[in-house]
Amino acid sequence: MLKIMEKIPADDPLNDPEQHAVIDQILEDNKSLPGATMVVLNELQGAIGHISPSMQVYVADRLGEPVSRIHGVVSFYSFFTTTPRGRHTIKFCVGTACYVSGINQIIEKAKQILGVEPGETTEDGLITLELCRCVGACSQAPVIVVDEEFLGRVKPNRFPKTIQDIKAKEA
Ligand code: FES
Repeated sequence: MLKIMEKIPADDPLNDPEQHAVIDQILEDNKSLPGATMVVLNELQGAIGHISPSMQVYVADRLGEPVSRIHGVVSFYSFFTTTPRGRHTIKFCVGTACYVSGINQIIEKAKQILGVEPGETTEDGLITLELCRCVGACSQAPVIVVDEEFLGRVKPNRFPKTIQDIKAKEA
């Protein structure tokens, strides 16, 4: 474990005494429960805001699970993030209807404008891009979800306006 601890990035929650204490408390409170892995990961996502790679190793060690299992769970559910989410989130529906309606072109536009990939957050912490499954608005495809707001029939050339609107909210 010491070797693992030496590699923890300076800004990781495990290097913040307060956050480390929260992580330890969550592990302590839940480690004996049936299905402890999901409970612990859910609590950590809620309390810390993300589950960093170092946290995944730490949780695996404390729960006696392989790191690959923890990593598998974190990567599978879009609810979990490995870096802090931005102040705003743009989700791109990659369900079948949105896929055939060209969601990939919108995703490409977003990557080009913001310089980040889905799953990442802009350097200024403003926007996180995420992919999601069908959100039940297929007749409006392609669909994106900006924070809690659904936007349908999105066109690549109108996407920059979406970014401007988010920035305007911050101004
Ligand atoms: S596939 Fe995108 S809303 Fe259903």
